[in-house]
Amino acid sequence: RRVTRIHHLAQMKAEGEKWSMLTAYDYSSARIFDAAEIPVLLVGDSAANVVLGYDTTIPVTVDEMIPLIRAVVRGAPHALVVADMPFGSYEIGPQHALENAFRIFKETGAHAVKLEGGERVAPQIAALSAAGIPVMAHIGFTPQSVNGLGGFRVQGRGDGADQLIADAIAVQEAGAFAVVMEMVPADLAGQITRKLTIPTVGIGAGNETDAQVLVWQDMAGLTHGKTARFVKRFADVGGELRSAAEQYADEVRRGVFPGPEHSY
Ligand code: KIV
Ligand code: NA
Repeated sequence: RRVTRIHHLAQMKAEGEKWSMLTAYDYSSARIFDAAEIPVLLVGDSAANVVLGYDTTIPVTVDEMIPLIRAVVRGAPHALVVADMPFGSYEIGPQHALENAFRIFKETGAHAVKLEGGERVAPQIAALSAAGIPVMAHIGFTPQSVNGLGGFRVQGRGDGADQLIADAIAVQEAGAFAVVMEMVPADLAGQITRKLTIPTVGIGAGNETDAQVLVWQDMAGLTHGKTARFVKRFADVGGELRSAAEQYADEVRRGVFPGPEHSY
């Protein structure tokens, strides 16, 4: 099958074809999602949570993200690989964003970067786009700003709707090739999707966006504890893996593994 590149996403919007994005943080999972023909893989800064065990995405650094991005690029020859710019790597200004995005591009082979914010990061999006670095924007609930937003809350309700629309238009005008909308009312996400010419990617944004994204550990049942309302568990990989580990330990304990067929 063909590889997915930026222009294919615009084509899919024009043709009304919905597509999916999943996160990936390592070679093994990237290979599986690439084989499953997931067209876009996001090396999310959610690595802070699901890979590194932090409570928020705030602590993860560019240095920590780079080896993960490289591994996903090696595992996914067909997918478009988008790399998240971590908190503190782009906010200071366009120059700062360029320095970090150049580094990510030169050291990893990612095809695009993603950063959080609407109007406030439009200059960064414009600078990166002009330099040949495609940018996926991310508006609505932006986890790097969890402290400023006062927790995990739906955005764009009431007066917030106008700001969300303004943010969506600002990132499109600045040159973003797509925009993630996280935790926003479904009707508003649909309205924005119809208004924009670039594809919208929803997470907790209802069924009317052009695409969807989930953290793979959430959708595969590998995340421990309570997951957000917007998560659907498509498998119980966590339960399967735990059971495999328990069986392995049990067979070793009973002297059943390794058998003659595993021995030289
Ligand atoms: O880091 C991440 O996983 C994300 C997606 C959930 C959009 O930004
Ligand atoms: Na992210």
